[in-house]
Amino acid sequence: MQPVRTVDDLTGPRPLPVVGNLVQMRTDRDGHRAYDRWAHEYGPTYRLRFGKMPIVVSGDGPIVEAVLRDRPDGFTRTRVGPVLEGLGVDGVFGAEGARWRRLRKMAAESLNAAYLREYFTVIARSAARLQARWTTAAENGQAVDVLDDVRRFTLDVSTALTVGHDLNSLEAAGGGLHSRLAELFPEIGRRLYAPLPLHRFVTLPRDRRRRLAMREVDALVRDRYAHARTRMATGAKPATFLEALVAPLRDEPAFTHDELVGNVLTMMLAGQDTISSTIAWTLHHLAGDPGAQERVRAEASTALGASGPPDGPAALRGLRFTDAAIQESLRLRPVVPVMGFRPTRDTVLHGTGYDLSLPEGQSILLLLSHGARAVPDPDEFRPERWSGRMTAQPFFPFGAGPRFCPGHNLAMLEATLVVGLACRDFQLLPDSGDVGEKLAFTAFPTGLRLRPQPRPEPAGAARP
Ligand code: HEM
Repeated sequence: MQPVRTVDDLTGPRPLPVVGNLVQMRTDRDGHRAYDRWAHEYGPTYRLRFGKMPIVVSGDGPIVEAVLRDRPDGFTRTRVGPVLEGLGVDGVFGAEGARWRRLRKMAAESLNAAYLREYFTVIARSAARLQARWTTAAENGQAVDVLDDVRRFTLDVSTALTVGHDLNSLEAAGGGLHSRLAELFPEIGRRLYAPLPLHRFVTLPRDRRRRLAMREVDALVRDRYAHARTRMATGAKPATFLEALVAPLRDEPAFTHDELVGNVLTMMLAGQDTISSTIAWTLHHLAGDPGAQERVRAEASTALGASGPPDGPAALRGLRFTDAAIQESLRLRPVVPVMGFRPTRDTVLHGTGYDLSLPEGQSILLLLSHGARAVPDPDEFRPERWSGRMTAQPFFPFGAGPRFCPGHNLAMLEATLVVGLACRDFQLLPDSGDVGEKLAFTAFPTGLRLRPQPRPEPAGAARP
């Protein structure tokens, strides 16, 4: 028998009057690191206060896993559903119960392995455009804004995969839909942590940009809807997420226009900031570790061929070290470091050395990747860790259980391809400047610029 801890038994950082720990929780410069520091100081399960309300935070592997697996019946997501709905992003991520089951089935089907093979052509086309953009920068000796460029890549890919439209923001100059959509994730974070719903009373320029982006997506869905309906009426297999949504479902009512937009937007967004931040952080770490970058370059030169993207996803199987570099980056800079849940009934969770008793409705924030800090030199970037026992670590950058990220394979495919091609074709050097992390629902790098240089010639090789 282990001792049982209740919410009142837990300790944590001292709350301020009225706001509690809210100010400390809005970690604008330090990203998610504050949560890890508190876990170090108060133990893997501790307590914060949101105003007066207690919030349990846990990075204890068995507790994190138990909550993630006990869904949809035992735990629901906290607050995020209504926030997403208010922003018009009302899709599978925020749904619960029967509605979630219906949407999940479609999301999982449209992202299964068979589709990934078909999607590869679209992904490779955008990867080639990203390479061309960085070739120009390398030739002109310019630094690149990695996150902005990779966001263009992921938005182009996710727009093509969700509605079948080639946005091509990679070859467009200046800000576009990708920069306006970038306002959405931070706004979700702001609304989740806001003590008062100020957005209902004040409209800021960023709100206007975000609304403009929503109208653009709405128009895109309207435009592609008729096309999707016509194709699905022929009995064709869905080739985009929108087609999967409009394809007739046995005994189920059709989706309304708002539901279509909400779901398309959910998939577009889920596949955009998450992958772009992961790629950007991985390239940042590789730029700071020339030895690791060289190992990626060597295997990418063999696996991906001499120039351009490979013909199919099978080539990526040769990128074992590249995959390890991405895992290691996710360990150091998880893009979804913290997620909130609520038990639907009184629950006791089995932790490491104690049981945690939670009353129904008690908010619990999970630190999804905290468990993987229990390694030697946890702040060091060491991809080689992943060749051994690391897979046994309680590490959940994509969640776990029935609501595990359905885009995991697509994400790893895009990230491995882009990181492999970037290291094969360029030598990446860090640019001067202060790189930070911002946590706003997802976590993303700030100030991340790199200098791509023409690639170093392999010894004795002639350039094609
Ligand atoms: C590096 C990239 C990505 C990361 C780190 C990531 C991470 C996550 C995490 C942590 C969750 C919550 C899982 C849970 O509750 O157990 C999630 C859910 C989800 N992700 Fe991803 N994701 C990524 C890319 C993608 C992509 C590419 C797509 C689709 C195009 C996608 C679609 C979704 C959807 C639809 C959900 C909600 C699933 C549900 O509630 O049933 N994600 N993701």
